[in-house]
Amino acid sequence: MDLVDILMVGVSAVLLHLWWRFSSSSMVSGNLPPGPPGWPLVGNLVQVILQKRAFIFVVRDLRKKYGPIFTMQMGQRKMIIVTSSELIHEALVKRGPQFATRPPDSPIRLVFSVGKCAINSALYGPLWRTLRRNFATELVNPTRIRQCGWIRRWAMENHLERLKKESHEKGFVEVMSNCRLTICSILICLCFGAKISEEEVKSIETVLKEVMLMTTPKIPDFFPVLAPIFRRQMKLARDLRRRQMDCLLPLVRARRAFLRGGVCDINMEMASPVGAAYVDSLLGLQVPGRDGSRPLGEEELVTLCSEVISAGTDTSATTLEWALLHLVQDQNMQNKLYEEIVGLIGNDGRPVAEDDVEKMDYLGAVVKETFRRHPPSHFLLSHAATEETELAGYTVPAEASVEFYTAWVTEDPALWERPDEFRPERFLNGGDGVDADVTGTKQVKMVPFGAGRRICPGMNLGTLHVHLMLARMVQAFKWIPVSDYPPDPTEAFAFTVVMKNSLKAAIVPR
Ligand code: HEM
Repeated sequence: MDLVDILMVGVSAVLLHLWWRFSSSSMVSGNLPPGPPGWPLVGNLVQVILQKRAFIFVVRDLRKKYGPIFTMQMGQRKMIIVTSSELIHEALVKRGPQFATRPPDSPIRLVFSVGKCAINSALYGPLWRTLRRNFATELVNPTRIRQCGWIRRWAMENHLERLKKESHEKGFVEVMSNCRLTICSILICLCFGAKISEEEVKSIETVLKEVMLMTTPKIPDFFPVLAPIFRRQMKLARDLRRRQMDCLLPLVRARRAFLRGGVCDINMEMASPVGAAYVDSLLGLQVPGRDGSRPLGEEELVTLCSEVISAGTDTSATTLEWALLHLVQDQNMQNKLYEEIVGLIGNDGRPVAEDDVEKMDYLGAVVKETFRRHPPSHFLLSHAATEETELAGYTVPAEASVEFYTAWVTEDPALWERPDEFRPERFLNGGDGVDADVTGTKQVKMVPFGAGRRICPGMNLGTLHVHLMLARMVQAFKWIPVSDYPPDPTEAFAFTVVMKNSLKAAIVPR
């Protein structure tokens, strides 16, 4: 420890003491939701750490004891956890605007969100509205989705070729890594209009995965007052941010050069016409600033494009892996899906197209059941109330994070018959899923994309990716278990809830 470290520890101890005295004397009224008793200074943080398992699994158990709404004090952060269908609906839909903002970002997250300039982290206000409206009109409106269909066709051909090659070399394929790579390449092309090599896609994917892991909550996030002693973590975050800039800024600049002169100054194929890439719209966007509107800076452009790639990759790839697990384990289910594909397309080798998937009810049911039984995220992103309010008769302070534990509603036996079973049929012919509205507008029965103001704006695009990839993979190959690596449905947390041991499957061309 050098002198600076000793000084920092001293300063931090004083700050922590002051925080503790101040927060004890200005405690919110005693009407917070109940919760597990905490320890002085650290609250429930150490109890959670001692359990040595992901927070989602801790909450899964606490819900049984504390029910629909409870409080956890995690260091300096107060969390209100909401778990019941009724309360989630009341907060997100009936009183949407009141719960539509985000809590403050930790110092590490601020490095990557460049001061909350991203749709997912922006406070509920003019900046968020401008960015979200631009996303909706420029990236995911139905005309744009159709216009960019060639990107998915190109990526799907590469995907199937890659699977064939891997199967030939290893005797099986890794489902998750292949799906991630393909979806990531689609999203990169949607953002920058460029076709880049798989090696480059892989390096972007690796950096963005590191960013996601770096920004998941860690001890420093629970003690912002101690920021000075976590200088090392901050340095690691800044180094990673530099690497993120190094791999994405050249794409932004290449696209800008292409827009200006119709040529691209680095060796890259600009395949999308002018105006069709997401970054084109961001380059021309004016966002609300302190003194009127202003253009976005390069740091912000990288953050906003990274957000699309990160938000859309793991969520969809995770869903595909879980869906294929069930199709590998249950060959009857897989045959039923294959027969639906052949029934619609015929057997003449025409690949399933984007328009086809809308007509496939069984495919839709398999995907919905996957979203229900294996929601990629068990919590929504952290929400916050715009001002102190009440929920279920309890106080929700403005500075608290409000965490919606949405996985529970899909496991609740009061809402689902035999919820543990994977049965796509529940979404067909009068089953218990037929009335489930995934937007949660009428009732919260399954909300894999959230609900209300902050509902995932990429919902239709993400669902299209999952439908199309699953249909093409089942159309092209029969999927079977590998005896050396039997499919194992144990869950693990890696930003999304993934299979602990990634699925490996053998494929036989149809
Ligand atoms: C299977 C696919 C997907 C799932 C399950 C999913 C799920 C979610 C969830 C649960 C949220 C948090 C909602 C909340 O905090 O209330 C979210 C937010 C978001 N998602 Fe997705 N997502 C998917 C695909 C995508 C795609 C493909 C994109 C982009 C192209 C995307 C972009 C976003 C953005 C920008 C937000 C932040 C919205 C805001 O704060 O206003 N997502 N998503």
